[in-house]
Amino acid sequence: MTKKHILQLKNISKIYSTKTEDLNIIKDLSLDVEEGEFISILGQSGSGKTTLLNLIGLLDSPTNGSIIIDGEEISLDSSSIDKVRNEKIGFVFQFHYLLPEFTALENIMIPALTNNFKNRKEIEKRALELLKDIGLENRAHHKPSELSGGEKQRVAIARALINNPKLLLLDEPTGNLDDETSEKIFKLFKQINEKKRQTIITVTHSRELSNISHKKLLLKKGILL
Ligand SMILES: Nc1ncnc2c1ncn2[C@@H]1O[C@H](COP(=O)(O)OP(=O)(O)O)[C@@H](O)[C@H]1O
Ligand SMILES: [Mg+2]
Repeated sequence: MTKKHILQLKNISKIYSTKTEDLNIIKDLSLDVEEGEFISILGQSGSGKTTLLNLIGLLDSPTNGSIIIDGEEISLDSSSIDKVRNEKIGFVFQFHYLLPEFTALENIMIPALTNNFKNRKEIEKRALELLKDIGLENRAHHKPSELSGGEKQRVAIARALINNPKLLLLDEPTGNLDDETSEKIFKLFKQINEKKRQTIITVTHSRELSNISHKKLLLKKGILL
């Protein structure tokens, strides 16, 4: 059986032009990721890990090269970028970015409400299932200010999963959490990856998290080793 690529980067580069110089952060980088893989990206601070993840997540566009997600080449001026991002990609950052005025349940539902083909009851049902998966069913109606750091981050993970994305991108997802809480979250990622074969690409400084991934890549001088 031939394996299916969920992501292909073909010779991408990213140059930030500043007043004084051009910073060539990503250099002619290519990468193939198969469906169901769990990849960790390591690298020194400032090596371009966030830049790379933002390119993969279609939050930023490369200076050169092409990005193919689930067989679809992403064209930079395409109006379909928002659709691909919303339907195929889930993103978790170091900071949770939950909306303070909404409950945990509502925060999880928000990305699905823009997909108007689904109805609200259905979305709520799925959000409640996700809350159960992350062990927070008894926190559904709590606002972020009423949750611990680890709980907030778990809600952010559930929010990233609400549209059942094929590709889950994590940028130092436990960078702000203690070891014990991080451990729980790592187990959750492993479960997500194994249970639903969702592809995970995580940037991390954590040895534990990189150890549960299938493949460790090092970003150094703009290329992946
Ligand atoms: N918008 C930008 N304009 C100019 N330089 C940037 C911009 N964003 C990031 N950089 C620079 O690119 C390099 C890589 O940044 P980043 O991807 O955030 O690294 P990492 O996530 O590995 O710490 C850094 O030197 C940073 O200063
Ligand atoms: Mg970073």
